[in-house]
Amino acid sequence: MASTGAAGRRRPPLSEEGSAEAQKRAAAEAAAELIDDGMRVGLGTGSTVAHLLPALAARGLRGLRCVATSPATERVALELGLEVLALDELGELDVAVDGADQVDPACWLVKGGGGAHVREKIVAAAARRFVVIVSAEKVVAELTAPVPLELLAFGVSRTLAAVAPAELRAGTPPSPDGGLIADYLGAVGDPAALAERLSATPGVVDHGLFAPELVSDVLIGEADGSVSHRRSPKAG
Ligand code: 5RP
Repeated sequence: MASTGAAGRRRPPLSEEGSAEAQKRAAAEAAAELIDDGMRVGLGTGSTVAHLLPALAARGLRGLRCVATSPATERVALELGLEVLALDELGELDVAVDGADQVDPACWLVKGGGGAHVREKIVAAAARRFVVIVSAEKVVAELTAPVPLELLAFGVSRTLAAVAPAELRAGTPPSPDGGLIADYLGAVGDPAALAERLSATPGVVDHGLFAPELVSDVLIGEADGSVSHRRSPKAG
């Protein structure tokens, strides 16, 4: 892994220095630097992306057009003056930037801690370059449960039985597309095999396993303030 270093970046508040929050901010600010005038940009969801949005807006780029993966991201992006359009209006995206819950050595991801993984996967797949931004503790040797799921409401108890062990996520509202958010709680093992099993189960809209082929870059905010850069298969 090459380190891009933290030179030139704004120093985090003292209360944040070295913390997971500072690491998320550093990775998000590094990602904002990858975006140029006129790009079509996918905006992910979550507390790491919450650092990306002001960093991107502060760059004052011209002709930027964005698509948001959640109503929360859309609201903040609009408040910051970013132009937000529907994915169907933009077509292929130049870049998408999003957080993750876990990243393994092969760049398999677990996403969906915020329940937005279905839209996030569509946006990642629509982007020529998908940049993942994480704090260092998200980098793991092996993926583990929970793996987020979005399930059709129709027959949900049968779908849960088919992907057992799994349960609906208490207190989480349905997705903006009406799907119920649940978590697969069993062993992950080979992520490709689990992804195939979950995708093949009727009633599963999609799961939070993102294959390395979707991922271009992983920017990791480290405890010392630097940002490490992993390139994945999509990077070529
Ligand atoms: C939302 C996601 C998030 O990207 C993931 O949960 C990481 O969140 P955070 O940046 O808050 O740690 O997949 O569905």
